[in-house]
Amino acid sequence: MILPPERLDRLLSRLGYCSRSEVRDWIRAGRVTAGESPVHPATLADPSEIRIDGEPLDHPGPLYLAYYKQAGTVCAQGDPRSIYHDFPERWSCRRPALSSVGRLDRDTSGILLLTDDGDWLHRWIHPRRQVPRQYRVQLAEPLVENAGDVLSSGDFYLEGERKPCMPAELRRLSGTEILLTLKEGRYHEVRRMMAALGNRVVALHREHFGPYGLDGLAPGEWRLLSPEETGKE
Ligand code: URA
Repeated sequence: MILPPERLDRLLSRLGYCSRSEVRDWIRAGRVTAGESPVHPATLADPSEIRIDGEPLDHPGPLYLAYYKQAGTVCAQGDPRSIYHDFPERWSCRRPALSSVGRLDRDTSGILLLTDDGDWLHRWIHPRRQVPRQYRVQLAEPLVENAGDVLSSGDFYLEGERKPCMPAELRRLSGTEILLTLKEGRYHEVRRMMAALGNRVVALHREHFGPYGLDGLAPGEWRLLSPEETGKE
């Protein structure tokens, strides 16, 4: 991605290197260079030319990531079990902030997208998009016979809600293991659906979110999505 020139102090602070006021000290210390040209905090810099301690800038463009969330971690920032500990520390100072595309519960594992591109994020979570989310669910008890019909009916209500769930697709892998595909993301949706059917989720893992899967990622690992995958050239 070709990025437009940007004031050096703004660029370095939004990428989390240092505050705008510290940029002058970094330049004085010889840490910031742009080829042969002298730099100043107000220099309109081409991000691809800037070096910090001789290294190119760390992802000066927007971030688009696929991540394997582990069970036991949380999507909130500032929690000792936060997923954000799995990303470079400097990224926690980037602006705009890196955010997850929706959330998974603490006890849920699997694919989670993250980005700092707000428009891209909203495209994926907007209810109108009806992005399919596929979950592998381990249940405490064999699932009732008519579960597939009930869940796909479009007339299935979660406790305390006035709007029916969007039709969901059920595939049985065994008596107590299913694949469930939802086209919306409500709070604790799978666990509440199974509770409404008189069952209990013992393990929940998201295998796909839209076209994205884990594709060989290990728990806690992430990878950058390519421009072909994001549609962002
Ligand atoms: N449904 C749940 O119950 N939990 C999740 O994390 C995702 C979907």
